[in-house]
Amino acid sequence: MKILGIETSCDETAISLIEGNGEKNSPSFKVLEQALHSQADKHAEFGGVFPSLAKREHAKNLVPLLGEIIKKEGSPDLSHVNWSEIEELLHRETELAKNLKNFVLTHEKPDVDMLAVTSGPGLEPALWVGINFAKALSIIWQIPLIPINHMEGHIVSVLTESNISNFPALALLISGGHTEIVLVNSWGDYKILGQTKDDAIGEAYDKVARILNLPYPGGPEISKLAKIGRESNECKYEISFPRPMIGTNDYDFSLSGLKTAVLYRTQKFDDIDDIAKIEVATEFEQAIVDVLKKKVGNALDEFAVENLIVGGGVIANEYIRESLKKVADERGVKAFFPTKDLSTDNAIMISIAAYLRQFDKKPEINPDIRAKGNLSLES
Ligand code: KG4
Ligand code: ZN
Repeated sequence: MKILGIETSCDETAISLIEGNGEKNSPSFKVLEQALHSQADKHAEFGGVFPSLAKREHAKNLVPLLGEIIKKEGSPDLSHVNWSEIEELLHRETELAKNLKNFVLTHEKPDVDMLAVTSGPGLEPALWVGINFAKALSIIWQIPLIPINHMEGHIVSVLTESNISNFPALALLISGGHTEIVLVNSWGDYKILGQTKDDAIGEAYDKVARILNLPYPGGPEISKLAKIGRESNECKYEISFPRPMIGTNDYDFSLSGLKTAVLYRTQKFDDIDDIAKIEVATEFEQAIVDVLKKKVGNALDEFAVENLIVGGGVIANEYIRESLKKVADERGVKAFFPTKDLSTDNAIMISIAAYLRQFDKKPEINPDIRAKGNLSLES
């Protein structure tokens, strides 16, 4: 089955075409095409993602990205299409509607069995652009469409490389918007064991980066400094941060106090030098890693699972990856991580989730899909 996936929940516009085969518990996937445009540099000057800019950028980039995936020109018979219905659907995006019409009238209908689109969680204006675009394609090409939870995408992003058939499994999701420990009873059946009460881990990295005057997104910048700090092993300043909620008997997190501790400690420097930045970044990252190791270790012990899945943009961080792998290895648990390019937002994971979902729910043409900024994995 060939699935075209569309992702616009945050600041990456992405479209992918994959082929899924096999049963729900032993699927295999082949990535046929992928196209992705990151807006990160556009948002950098705001120090975070600016929703209306994200929406505008998605609207501008969707058709060109589709063009990278569907290259074959042609003049398909689209006499069934009521174009005013498409214009109505994209009435806030007149430019997108026009470009889309031009595109589908001049390119062959692709060999695709199903469309998939992220419906949440994320920035609602950004989600809506992707949803309406996907609905328009569903109507024009008469291909069924399935809505996908972005966080489910991060969980199943490990399936391009490996197969997981022993359930329940444990999943840790760490991204710019989420920090969750999830029990995966089967694909599509999730229980959230705990989550952050305030900031997400990626968000904390981004905020600490801003405090240290480093560019957005902050995760890669902080982790670069922390790596230097760990390797040099020097200690010029006395810097120590709390490990919030490390001792609580639950799977929840709280990161805002850690961020505030970084702010106060940094303010003590009149003119912060590079060595201080390195030492702050190193101790901050160590605090995050200590808390993650403890919480994930506790959950692996309590639920006695055989498999740990880790997903989300923050897992691009090598040190966090290695530390979590150690926690799993110590318990004889197998740890699964997505490849680097599938760690951050992409549409391949959305297509994979759709393949697994269609076993339980038959997708429809032009279904009623609404963007939900706070969509939960349990809904
Ligand atoms: O999953 P993702 O691409 O988007 C969301 O769904 O949020 O995650 C983006 C987050 C950003 O906060 C970014 O700073 C963080 O992942 N990130 C990292 C690293 N690379 C990206 N955090 C820590 N270390 C990294 N190497
Ligand atoms: Zn994400």
